[in-house]
Amino acid sequence: MKLFIDSADIDEITEAQALGVLDGVTTNPSLIAKTGKPFEQVVREILKVIDGPVNLEVVGTDAETMVAEGRKLAAFGENVVVKIPMLPEGLKAVKRLTSEGFKTNVTLIFSSSQALLAAKAGASYVSPFVGRLDDISHEGMEVVAQIREIYDNYDYGTEILAASLRHPIHFIEAARLGADVATLPLSVILSLTRHPLTDKGLATFLADWEKVQDKF
Ligand code: G3P
Repeated sequence: MKLFIDSADIDEITEAQALGVLDGVTTNPSLIAKTGKPFEQVVREILKVIDGPVNLEVVGTDAETMVAEGRKLAAFGENVVVKIPMLPEGLKAVKRLTSEGFKTNVTLIFSSSQALLAAKAGASYVSPFVGRLDDISHEGMEVVAQIREIYDNYDYGTEILAASLRHPIHFIEAARLGADVATLPLSVILSLTRHPLTDKGLATFLADWEKVQDKF
C-alpha cells in the first residue's frame, strides 16, 4: 500500500519524507488555507521536495472552470494529480482531463456508487472520506470494502485512496481491505512507528548496555 501525507505544511511534508516511506501528498483547500501562505508558494515548496503524486484541488464547481483550473494545476509539475469534487460537473471534468492525459482524483467520496461513477469517468484515484462518515455514525470503512469489491469485479484500474483516516486502526483496516493508498496527517504517520513495548525494550537494552565494560 502506498502512503501519502495529508498536509500542505512543508515542514510536516519534509519530516515525513525523511522517514523514507512516503509516496506522495494530498492537499485540499482547507489544508492550504491552514499554512497561511500564498497558494503558488505552497505548491512550489511541495513540488521541490516530492517526486511522487502531489494532489492539488480545484475550487470551481462547473466542468468548464474545473477543467481550466485542472490544466493550470497540472502545469505546475508532471507529478500533479488534479483533485475534483464528486459532482455531476466533476465527472464531466474528470472525463475531459483524463482524455487530455491528466491524472485525476475524485474527492469527497462517501458512497460506493459515487466511486463506481468516478471510475467510469476515468479517475486515476477516488478518495473515500472514512473519518467523516464515522463522525456521523456510519461505518466509513464499509465504503472502502464495497469500492474494493466493485472495482475488483470489473477490473477498474482506479486506485482507492483512503482519506480522512484519523488513527492507526483506520490505517490497518484500510490496508487489510486492500486500499491502494492511505493518506494520513503527520501525527498519525508518526504514531504508526510507536509501541510501548518498543520503548520499554529499548530502555532495558540501553540500561543493560551501560553495564558493559568494553563499549565501542
Ligand atoms: O484527505 C482528506 C482529509 O483532509 C479530510 O480529513 O480529518 O478533515 O476529515 P478530515
